[in-house]
Amino acid sequence: MISHAENELLCRVGPATQMGDLMRRYWVPAVYPPDLPSPDCAPIRVRLFGENLVAFRDSAGKPGLIKESCPHRGASLFFGRNEEAGLRCVYHGWKFDTAGNCVDMPNEPAESDFKAKVKATTYPCIERSGIIWAYLGPPSEQPKELPGFMSNLLPDDHVFVTVRVQQSNYLQALEGGYDSTHVGFLHSRLDAPADARDSRQLMMQDKRPRFAAVQTDFGVMIGARRETGSDQAYWRVNLFLMPFYHMSPGTPVGLQRWNAWVPIDDETTLRWVVAWQADRPISEADLAPLRHGDSPAWGLLTADDYAPSNTLPGGRWRTKANLANDYFIDRTVQRTKTFTGISGFLTQDQAVTESMGPLVDRQHERLGSADLGIIAARRRLSQAARALRSDGTPPVGVLTPEAYTVNSGSVMLPRDADWVAGVQDVVVLRAQSSQS
Ligand code: FES
Ligand SMILES: [Fe+2]
Repeated sequence: MISHAENELLCRVGPATQMGDLMRRYWVPAVYPPDLPSPDCAPIRVRLFGENLVAFRDSAGKPGLIKESCPHRGASLFFGRNEEAGLRCVYHGWKFDTAGNCVDMPNEPAESDFKAKVKATTYPCIERSGIIWAYLGPPSEQPKELPGFMSNLLPDDHVFVTVRVQQSNYLQALEGGYDSTHVGFLHSRLDAPADARDSRQLMMQDKRPRFAAVQTDFGVMIGARRETGSDQAYWRVNLFLMPFYHMSPGTPVGLQRWNAWVPIDDETTLRWVVAWQADRPISEADLAPLRHGDSPAWGLLTADDYAPSNTLPGGRWRTKANLANDYFIDRTVQRTKTFTGISGFLTQDQAVTESMGPLVDRQHERLGSADLGIIAARRRLSQAARALRSDGTPPVGVLTPEAYTVNSGSVMLPRDADWVAGVQDVVVLRAQSSQS
């Protein structure tokens, strides 16, 4: 349980809010590159942290992110003509490049220098490994490098990226990421073989793990310890990485991944799943087992699973399964096969976290010992936001991109082992990545 004021601090991300200011200090996943498939393609609407923007790709293929309203008299640049290295407003023809310079002002006298005095608000973008990243903070504070996720250090074809829109505040969706005990319920099957010894089965066997959490230079490392019936304990590590990332142990097919829940606005979130594989490119064969609905799969979507409703922010990556149709819940499947009767892990996550309402009121929740990691992550976020506001302390991870070169994992450790030391080899990738 937290106070209304604390909840507001954590959840509100619009301009001038404390959490909004914090998030603007990071490079963030902003645009899904398939939405801008080629130079001079149609611009798209984007909303980030409640701010309306337009993304476009200029004639050289460079991505740009520009405030939606035209500096002249406010028409939407979404309707603009994307032509010859700039986006031209269709109202009076003013044209802007990706840096916001007004490069043409055809309704003013040719000898006028007014054009040089007008600048559109734009934000810097970097395209890397399947994501167009943007920085929306103060220019003087722009971090030099993107967060050092392994996916940012690998060739493009070692990375697979997918997105979907969620109708909720980012935090309740993010908290589903490092909420370890839900996996043994929400994502479980009723018909799994009782003698299986894979990681999922270990989670099913002990649904009452003990939790520990430690602060790190990326955020919070959360350990869940499960009994195995032997002298070894099964430790499963979830990572919360500032300000809205999560990593959980990899898939049965060997891909690693991280998730991001990037706020479109206070009640809409773009969920990114970024899968990576260090030793070889990702093929469709690698992804196929993750596309099917039930365990062991993420329920990755194909084009047919989306129902774009419009071109407004969040409209393009809306899923067919949504609250309006109860996520196609099948009560027969719920009785006989899976815990939920909803197909696909990602949709199961979406269903429960959207079902809380667009912005959950945490005054009324009752947290137990299983929620230790959630409490630690909230504290990390709110402390960082307060410190930034009070004395300008740079948020955790902003100045240390290498802190993100980590992974989650699971290990068997002797029952009395120090878990933090015991999981270092699977969590910290920095040594390996700097050698390779
Ligand atoms: S409003 Fe855009 S050019 Fe006039
Ligand atoms: Fe989940």
